[in-house]
Amino acid sequence: MKIKVVPQKLVRQLPAAVKDAYRQWADYMYEQVPFNMPESEIHSTAHSERVLLFALMLGDKLFPGDAAVLEVLGHAAIFHDTRREDEGTDRGHGARAADFYESFCREHEELSYHPESACLMRYHDCRDEQGGEAISSLFEEQAERMQLLYQIFKDADGLDRFRLGPRGLNPNYLRTDAAVDLLGFAKLLVTMTHNK
Ligand SMILES: [Fe+2]
Ligand SMILES: [Fe+2]
Repeated sequence: MKIKVVPQKLVRQLPAAVKDAYRQWADYMYEQVPFNMPESEIHSTAHSERVLLFALMLGDKLFPGDAAVLEVLGHAAIFHDTRREDEGTDRGHGARAADFYESFCREHEELSYHPESACLMRYHDCRDEQGGEAISSLFEEQAERMQLLYQIFKDADGLDRFRLGPRGLNPNYLRTDAAVDLLGFAKLLVTMTHNK
């Protein structure tokens, strides 16, 4: 199995719930999840592993003690860029990832299908307004919770933009204060692990 890129000394400092979920879903990704562009330097497993960690840290902060949230974010992170066909915007790769995740869950009974994860994937490459409207119509009672999960997931994906260069991420685009608090950590982690 490919070795995870996040250094152990950083993992050891994480809250127990984040550490456990990170190890579980990063290991699952490296062992089981096929990527359409495995040689990609900016959209393959290392990117997804860091997005997983950022998403779990944000989820634990904004939904403390909620293990279900960590699993929903975990699934979204490890599948969200698996069906890319190019390195650009590739509009629609989110929808393809969501469809792939659903069929993958049908064939892997150890993986519980979460419609929330599929939704986060499907709309992660869309404008916030478009994703927000879709969530409002799809999740009536859970809409408020899902809107926050959508913001968390997009911020987690955004925090990894430091891999695109020192100006890859404009912090003004971050949606949650919790993600702003993670800017220093994200920059450090990307510097330590990009291109590994
Ligand atoms: Fe993506
Ligand atoms: Fe991504």
